[in-house]
Amino acid sequence: ARIAVLASGRGSNLQAILDAISVGELPAEIVGVFSDKPAAAVLQRVAPALRWSADARTFPSREAFDAALADAVAACRPDWVVCAGYMRILGDGFVSRFRGRLLNIHPSLLPRYPGLRTHARALADGQREHGASVHFVIPELDAGAVIAQAVVPVRADDDAEALATRVLAVEHPLLVAVLRLAAAGRLAEHGTTITLDGH
Ligand code: GRF
Repeated sequence: ARIAVLASGRGSNLQAILDAISVGELPAEIVGVFSDKPAAAVLQRVAPALRWSADARTFPSREAFDAALADAVAACRPDWVVCAGYMRILGDGFVSRFRGRLLNIHPSLLPRYPGLRTHARALADGQREHGASVHFVIPELDAGAVIAQAVVPVRADDDAEALATRVLAVEHPLLVAVLRLAAAGRLAEHGTTITLDGH
């Protein structure tokens, strides 16, 4: 399967995908890494030919940036487009172009804690469990059909950083497991439900 990745930061989720591919655990290839941050460390994890980045501030509008991003993503003919720490909201134009093969990994047990600062919010609420979700992307933020989740305990002495570290550690195998389903052709979005076909 041809996988394009959108990311804005460190890229540990991308690295988990690359590692799974290199040990033969995921029959896929990374066909492009796309970032809104030209200096993002995530870009350094792949060869220069696979990198695309642009500073959104150099575009006349959000839509113009999204259109340029969509054209660049489409050019690498991805089977799946994975948002892994992509910190811009994708507009309807981008989502509609890739809907059904556009995934996101989010550090919370959706529908709880969409948006930012999920670990601090879970701690503030006294949650006993937290975790990560991989879901289909739809125009509404962090609201598409959830494909799979990984749960971690919240410890009494956790701060946001400790909890984030524990969640990140389960994000990586969660994302790889979902992409294995996708690569096997066993994942399809139908509105608000997903189909993992029987075999
Ligand atoms: C992850 O926690 C992901 O869930 C969130 O941003 C973080 C990205 O981390 N959306 P990395 O760049 O993949 O290391």
